[in-house]
Amino acid sequence: MEAPLQKISDPVLQQHGVELWLKREDLLHPTISGNKWRKLKYNLQQARQLAKDTLLTFGGAYSNHIAATAAAGAEFGFKTIGIIRGEEHLPLNPTLSFATFCGMQLQYVSREDYRKKQEPEFLAELSAKYNQPYLIPEGGTNALAVKGCTEIISDIAIDYDYICCASGTGGTIAGIIAGLQGQKQVLGFPALKGGEFLQQEIEQLILAYNGKQYSNWQLITDYHFGGYAKVKPELLAFIKQFQEQHHIPLEPVYTGKMLFGIYDLIRQGYFPEGSRVIAIHTGGLQGNAGFKERLGLEV
Ligand SMILES: Cc1ncc(COP(=O)(O)O)c(C=O)c1O
Repeated sequence: MEAPLQKISDPVLQQHGVELWLKREDLLHPTISGNKWRKLKYNLQQARQLAKDTLLTFGGAYSNHIAATAAAGAEFGFKTIGIIRGEEHLPLNPTLSFATFCGMQLQYVSREDYRKKQEPEFLAELSAKYNQPYLIPEGGTNALAVKGCTEIISDIAIDYDYICCASGTGGTIAGIIAGLQGQKQVLGFPALKGGEFLQQEIEQLILAYNGKQYSNWQLITDYHFGGYAKVKPELLAFIKQFQEQHHIPLEPVYTGKMLFGIYDLIRQGYFPEGSRVIAIHTGGLQGNAGFKERLGLEV
C-alpha cells in the first residue's frame, strides 16, 4: 500500500514561488483510507495481542472513523460495535449502511449519553454489555493512533519546509509533529471551531506519546467555515475547481477546508518564496455520498 506524493501544478503557485505537493494518504486503502489506516494499524495489533474479538468505537452518523473501523473489522476478523450519536434514521445513510454491510452492530445513544464517551463508568457499562471489547475512542485517537500517524512522514522522500493537515481530534497532527521531532513547520487546519482547546489536546497527545513538547507547529483556525461539516459556497466552488483542474477528489469536511486555507495563505504571501509545502490528503471521501444525500450537494 502506498501513499504517493503528487506535485500540484498551478499558475497561482508559480506566481507566488511556492511548491505544493499532496501526499495521497487517501490511496492507502480502498475502505480504510487516509489517516484512518494509520490510526487503526497499531490498535488492531494491540486488540489481537489482547485476544479481543470485538472492537467498539464511537462516532457521528457520517463518521469516517465508524466506516473505517467497520471495514477494518470485516477485513481483519473482528466483530465491530459502533456507538452512534443521536437517533436512528431509516433508511440508513450511506456511511451507516456501509458500516452495517461490513457487519458493524450499531447502538444509538442520546447526545447527552454520547458526551459520556470518555467516562470510566459509561465505558465499563458498554464493556460489560458487549463482552469486554477492545475500546477505540471517537475519531480513533489514542496513543497508538499517534504512533501510527508518525509513519505518515516516514516515506516522504523529498525535502520540504511546511507540512499541513486537517485536524479534528488532533491525533493525526500529533503523530506528524512527534514523528518530525522538532523539524520543519507543521500547520494544522481545524475543521471545527474551538482551536484553543484543540491546541491543548494536541500537546497532551504528544506528551502522552513521547513525553516531549515541540514549538514548530501551529493551528490555523480561520478555515472551519462555521464549524464541523459546515460549508459555504466559496468552499464548494474551490473544491469543484480544484477537482476539475487536478483530477483529485476532495471532501468538504477536512481536506477541502485545509486546501482552501493553504491556497488562501499562499495568496496572502504567508509562505516565503521558494517554500515547499506538503499537504496531507487524509481521505474521508466516503462522506461525500452523505453530503449529497443530506444537502443535495454534488461534491
Ligand atoms: C478525512 C479526515 N481528515 C482529517 C481528520 C482529522 O484527524 P484527527 O481527528 O486525527 O485530527 C479526520 C478525522 O478524524 C478525517 O476523517
